Amino acid sequence: MQPVPVALLHPATHVRPRTALVASADRSFRQRLTEILTGLRWQVREAQGGAEAWAEAEGSTPEAIIVDSWLPDLDLSEFLADFRGRFPQVDVVSTTGATAQESPRGPYRQELLYALRRTQDTDTAAWNLAPALKTPAPAPVVLQAGPRPFAPAQAVNPGAALPLEAGSPITLPQPALVRTVPLRSGPPPGAGAEKKSIDRLPELIGNAPCMLEVSRRIRLVAPRMTPVLIEGPTGSGKELVAEALHRLSSRNRKPFVAINCAAIPEALLEAELFGHTRGAFTGAVQGRVGRIESADGGTLFLDEIGEMPLALQSKLLRFVESSELQRVGDNETVKVDVRIVAATHRPLAEHTQTGMFRADLYYRLAVFLIRTPALCEHGEDLSLLVEHFMNKMGREAPMKRVDPSAMGKLTAHDWPGNVRELEHVLERAAILAGDEAVLTAQEIDFGLTVH
Ligand SMILES: Nc1ncnc2c1ncn2[C@@H]1O[C@H](COP(=O)(O)OP(=O)(O)OP(=O)(O)O)[C@@H](O)[C@H]1O
Ligand SMILES: [Mg+2]
Repeated sequence: MQPVPVALLHPATHVRPRTALVASADRSFRQRLTEILTGLRWQVREAQGGAEAWAEAEGSTPEAIIVDSWLPDLDLSEFLADFRGRFPQVDVVSTTGATAQESPRGPYRQELLYALRRTQDTDTAAWNLAPALKTPAPAPVVLQAGPRPFAPAQAVNPGAALPLEAGSPITLPQPALVRTVPLRSGPPPGAGAEKKSIDRLPELIGNAPCMLEVSRRIRLVAPRMTPVLIEGPTGSGKELVAEALHRLSSRNRKPFVAINCAAIPEALLEAELFGHTRGAFTGAVQGRVGRIESADGGTLFLDEIGEMPLALQSKLLRFVESSELQRVGDNETVKVDVRIVAATHRPLAEHTQTGMFRADLYYRLAVFLIRTPALCEHGEDLSLLVEHFMNKMGREAPMKRVDPSAMGKLTAHDWPGNVRELEHVLERAAILAGDEAVLTAQEIDFGLTVH
């Protein structure tokens, strides 16, 4: 007897599962969606916010993304527009039926879950989610048009079971799934504004031209092997940039290894970077692989490179030139493939003039420069950053908002500790406010800031 082809045993088993990404800050909503989609043979990944969803999609592009109508860290309409620009091939479904500005939280969540469950009930081998997702939405936004034939989601008891029984009183809007329409379609009203939104990296908050330039440079250089030097004052996002370079490179499945050259005593730094053999120095009871080797295939982030001792700079230069290293106490040469990103808050070019930093190493590391601006250089981004950090804190504790008196005080400050200082000031204010939902000028305290 001929073996039965697998496809006849189960209509879906011969097909690769489709991939979806669910982005919502609401864990139970994510879980319910994941459960249903998994039942429909989709492979689902979850993200708690926009930046995480973005990173997931950059790592491995899904076929569809379902985005809740509110994201804790990013503006929904900007996220959707950016996402469409970056991943035009991905089907985007949002639980918002209205424009992001008008939408209350998740007005169409119940309808979406219901529509998916119905798909699950009627076709368990289900491949018909794909056409459902692909159902074109009547312009401009499907669920906004006409009177709604069902009660708004607020009237639905959120805890109640979904109305799955036949003859359910709820009439689904058509189409059942909302396919969001491009929020900015056609020639953009201000081409600059459109470009702005698409170019900005989601984790790098700031729409000021100097911040957009940072995003632009990251996108341009990330896919290459080119060494990058990030220069900027403390707390201005240098590490954030280094991580973004790694995330947007083809090395993102391999390690991102950071080493802070200022934080490790000079005597240990060499062994830490290059590794050592057993007995290479007093106390080396075991051999150890260095940070450079542990980054093999990935990105090596040399933070505070300006603090590296001159002797070690020579050894690093040899590695940068040859991609080969010798562990301390070892004659054997090891070949390592890493992309080097370095950062400094010092004017390194000037230090090459005074002999504090090797010029030849500088030129090898600074093949491409990215400068992270001080917060006072992009003060116009302050309210966006405040919103970002308040939303971020709102994920772990009840959401608070900043009143105009507090905002005035924040605006008048000169931010020597830059974005990190802002984050700390807001965190401290939120603690000082106790149960109050509003932060006032009284809670804004710069005195304690340690950069
Ligand atoms: N543009 C930005 N958008 C959102 N968060 C930011 C931005 N810039 C910095 N941050 C946040 O501020 C904090 C400090 O950033 P980061 O550690 O990258 O700064 P840094 O330049 O490396 O500082 P240092 O020189 O002190 O090491 C981090 O929590 C980071 O996420
Ligand atoms: Mg840093």
